[in-house]
Amino acid sequence: MKEKIITKKILKWYDLNKRSLPWRKQLPLKKKQYYTLVSEFMLQQTQIATVIPFFNRFIKNLPSLRELAKVDEKKLIKLWEGLGYYSRARNLKKTAQIISKNFEGKIPDNYEDLLSLPGIGNYTSSAILAIAFNKPYIPLDGNIERVLKRYLYLKKQSEIVKDNLQQKKRIFGISSRSNDYAQALMELGALICKPINPVCRQCPISNKCKSLQKKDFDLTKNIKKNKEKYFILKVYKKDQRYLLVKNTKFNFLKNLTIFPMEELSKPKNFNENLNFKMSNMNMNIKIQYQKDSCKFQSPFWINKKKLDNYMLPSFTKKIVKYLEKN
Ligand code: ADE
Repeated sequence: MKEKIITKKILKWYDLNKRSLPWRKQLPLKKKQYYTLVSEFMLQQTQIATVIPFFNRFIKNLPSLRELAKVDEKKLIKLWEGLGYYSRARNLKKTAQIISKNFEGKIPDNYEDLLSLPGIGNYTSSAILAIAFNKPYIPLDGNIERVLKRYLYLKKQSEIVKDNLQQKKRIFGISSRSNDYAQALMELGALICKPINPVCRQCPISNKCKSLQKKDFDLTKNIKKNKEKYFILKVYKKDQRYLLVKNTKFNFLKNLTIFPMEELSKPKNFNENLNFKMSNMNMNIKIQYQKDSCKFQSPFWINKKKLDNYMLPSFTKKIVKYLEKN
């Protein structure tokens, strides 16, 4: 199918079937851009149906970027309560502050500047450029990925890696209505090309869909290779007690209590004592016993015999158990 025809068919379907969502309303430009910023942050890890009431309450309380930049932490967290992943809220406020200070209060309309803002990665940059600025970007979210994989019947691991999908999405073409087109593709994935039981009868592009031709709608899982990471874990021991610190340094176990650690990049001859799998990393950990604990400003000394009395991540508890055994 020619790109232009695909684009036309999908947009026509969208015009007739799109859901009415608060951030899709006709709005003055500045409001539209602010609403897009807020909704995209909320939609990063939360489904549309959950987001809607939170979004409405949020913009009622903080109707502009200027007010968001000035909101106090307590009110911000209260408005986010129920959505979870609070780092999104803090990043959203930081982003609003940076935009107020460095960008004259205008949300940037280019990829590099957007990417430099806290909480905005490749996906959110593309979504904002398409939706708020009508630029010809197609953000690859889970919905659009599914449409693409099914339409082209991409099943092999080499075909479903991000880089390949980024190339293949060109088949969707571009539209002068980029703002609607990005959302039309998301909507097609959400309402028609659903993870199970896709509604092919109503799909505007079913006539050339390879998965429909093969009657195979199964999607291959992405086997993600974990990243190898290397850490020195420092053990300070006094009598029955181990020194722990609040983790403000690493993105994993953020703000939780861990042993002091340092990450090494590609060390030579690293003889680890321990291996741990955590989110998308393979942690290789080397234990080092240390003496001088004075440099820590507010350490926690935990009694190894009373582990259950503390709020500790299981990672830390496992390390203590390992130390006690070895
Ligand atoms: N997911 C992320 N952004 C979205 C949007 N604007 N509409 C529908 N789903 C989305």
